[in-house]
Amino acid sequence: MYYIGVDLGTSAVKLLLMDGKGAIKNIVSKEYPLSFPKPGWSEQNPEDWDEQVMAGIKELIADVDGNEVAGISFGGQMHGLVILDKDDNVIRPAILWNDGRTTKECDYLNNTIGKDKLSEYTANIAFAGFTAPKILWVKENEPENFAKIAKIMLPKDYIAYRLSGVHCTDVSDASGMLLFDVKNRTWSKEMCEICSVKEEQLAKIYESYETVGTILPEVAKKLGISENCKIVAGAGDNAAAAVGTGTVGDGACNISLGTSGTIFISSKNFGVDSNNALHSFAHADGTYHLMGCMLSAASCNKWWMDEIIGTKDYAAEQKSIEKLGENHVFFLPYLMGERSPINDPMARATFTGITMDTTRADMTQAVLEGVAFALRDSFEVARSLGVDIKRSKICGGGAKSPLWKKIVANVLNIKIDVIESEEGPALGGAMLAAVANGEYATVQAAADAIVKIVDTVEPDPELVAKYEARYQEFKRIYPALKPVFNA
Ligand code: XUL
Repeated sequence: MYYIGVDLGTSAVKLLLMDGKGAIKNIVSKEYPLSFPKPGWSEQNPEDWDEQVMAGIKELIADVDGNEVAGISFGGQMHGLVILDKDDNVIRPAILWNDGRTTKECDYLNNTIGKDKLSEYTANIAFAGFTAPKILWVKENEPENFAKIAKIMLPKDYIAYRLSGVHCTDVSDASGMLLFDVKNRTWSKEMCEICSVKEEQLAKIYESYETVGTILPEVAKKLGISENCKIVAGAGDNAAAAVGTGTVGDGACNISLGTSGTIFISSKNFGVDSNNALHSFAHADGTYHLMGCMLSAASCNKWWMDEIIGTKDYAAEQKSIEKLGENHVFFLPYLMGERSPINDPMARATFTGITMDTTRADMTQAVLEGVAFALRDSFEVARSLGVDIKRSKICGGGAKSPLWKKIVANVLNIKIDVIESEEGPALGGAMLAAVANGEYATVQAAADAIVKIVDTVEPDPELVAKYEARYQEFKRIYPALKPVFNA
C-alpha cells in the first residue's frame, strides 16, 4: 500500500508518496502566494492551499494505482488562524504563524491576564504568531468577521476537513493555539473564556497517528483514490518533521532550517521552562516536546540570495566562503521580528561591522552565521534547563547546504546527524498515515524502521572556539539595538 504525506508549508506544499516499507516513491512541490498586506503582517488564502494540494496529489500518484493509496496525513505550518462561517466558507485570509500584528493582544494576555495564568492553563505564554492573540485581534478589529465564526481551524486541519468533511485537529498543532491544555491534551476552558471562544467552535482533538475519517467519495473520485483511503490527523510541521527525522522518545533533538528555524527536543514527560522562553507542546508520538522557534531561518538566505544578490545558485555563492569563524560582519536574522527566545515582534534584521574590505561572500557568510547564532540563543535556554544536547538531526531546505550544516555544528558545538531524506514534515506525515493503517505498531517503531543516518558532521574544537568568541560578540548586538527597534 501507499501513504501520502502533505507538508503544508509557507511558500509551497510538498507532497510525498511512501510505500509501506518506508521507501519514498515520489515527491511533488506546488507553490502558492504569500502576502504581506502591511509591514509585519503575513497572510495566505486557504483556497490556494486546497487547490495546490489537490493538483499535487494527482501529480504525485499519476504513476501508481490510486486504489493502493491507503492513507493521507499531514505536517502543517502551525498557529495560522483559519476561520469558517456556518456553511464552512472561509471568512477572511488566514493569518499566519509569522504575522506580528498582535502586539497589543499579546500584551493583554501576558500582562493583564498574566503569564503565570497562561502557563498554568496552557503550559505556554502568548507569542505574536500564536492563534489565540489573533482571535482577539479579529474580535477587536473585524467584529463583523468575528460574529460570523462557526469554526476555528489550523491550516493543515482545513485541508483535512476538505478531504474528509471532519473538523479535526491534533495535539501537537493544537498546542500552538494557546487554547489547549498541553499537559492534559484537552481544550482549556479558561482560555476559551478569555478569548470569547465556545468549545463547539473548536475542532475535535486527535492524537497525530489517529484516523479522523475516510476520504469524501466525491474527493476520492476527483483524485482517483480509493474511497477507503483514511485521513489521519497528522501534526504541526515541527512535530511531523521530528517523526520524519526519528526525533521521538526521550531527549532526542532535531533542527529545522526551513522558512522558520526550530530546535525541537522530544521528552517522555511533560515539562515547562520557568520563563516559558521555549514552547512546551504535545508530540506526535503521544509524548511531549520543548521547542524554540525563530521566525526567519532559511528565509533569510532566500531573501539575501533572491531579492538582494539576485541569484538562484545558492551553492555557487557559498563556494567562495573560506574563513569560517573569522567574519567581522554580523547579521541579525530578524526579518519578521523574532519569537524564541527574545519574543520581540519589533526586532528587525541588520548587518553590523561592514568595512571597505567587506566582500559579498562575507555578507552571505554573515547571513548563514546569524541564523546559527540565533538558534544558539534557544539552545542556551535548553542548556540552562539542564537539557544536555550532544547531537541533533537536521532537516529543511537549509539542511541541503553542507557549509550551513558545518556552521551550525560548530556554533552549537554538537554533532549533526544527517539522515537519508531531509523531507522532515512530508515524510513524517506519510509515516503517521502508515502507523494509523497498522503498518507499524507505534510512531517509534516506524521511525526505527524507516529513518537512517547516513553521515555525521563533527564539530572541530578549533572552530568551536572561534565561533564561541563570535557568538559572545553577536549576543551584544540585539540588546544594544532594541531601543532603536522599539522607537
Ligand atoms: C513553530 C512555527 C513555525 C511554523 C512554520 O512554532 O511557528 O515553525 O510552524 O511552518
